[in-house]
Amino acid sequence: MSVKITFHGHSAFSLSDGTHTVLMDPFITGNPQAEAAGITAESISCTHIALTHGHEDHMGDTLAIAKRCDATVLGPFELCNMLGEEGLEKLEPANPGGGVDMPFGRITMTQAFHSSSFGGRYMGMPAGLVIRMGDTTIYNTGDTGIFGDMALIAEIHRPDVLILPIGDRFTMGPADATRAAEMVKAPIAIPCHFGTWQSIDIDPARFAPHGVEVRRLEAGGSTEV
Ligand code: NI
Ligand code: MN
Repeated sequence: MSVKITFHGHSAFSLSDGTHTVLMDPFITGNPQAEAAGITAESISCTHIALTHGHEDHMGDTLAIAKRCDATVLGPFELCNMLGEEGLEKLEPANPGGGVDMPFGRITMTQAFHSSSFGGRYMGMPAGLVIRMGDTTIYNTGDTGIFGDMALIAEIHRPDVLILPIGDRFTMGPADATRAAEMVKAPIAIPCHFGTWQSIDIDPARFAPHGVEVRRLEAGGSTEV
């Protein structure tokens, strides 16, 4: 069974097995890449939302989409508490190292070296997500710097696809992201979190891991794995 991965710009992706759709970090409104591609929050549907951290460019349209789609939201504990105060009831709080069985497989939260706040409020630990959908495993590192235990996470979960930021300044830049992809050794890598704004406008050709197929998606584009 294959999984369809759709990119909505910046760090927003949908993963679909044909029955369930997991939307990750749905920053659509105000996302220049999504808006240039004509993608709106209202145009995206899902059964689940998975969040890496609380920053506005990841939380994005979570509340509106979750309410409209009656979607279950998985995210860091403190972030889920805040979403609960905003009226969401279908929440799956987690923290790095923990996993949650889902109707399509499992989501494990991993560590990320970053920060996490929303409106000045602490939103818990930032995270990466290992999402197993059927027999396909996708490791989304979330916003993070490089760290050696990415290799351990890869050894444990054997990801088929790595999604990682390459835009520099707030996350890994292309050189460190290249090292990270070579360390994780997933056969396919999909870069994100670059080019959205001038501050993270790097040349994506500098992300060139050996032995890894790079699939660079445009906003609105998708690929099957
Ligand atoms: Ni961030
Ligand atoms: Mn970010």
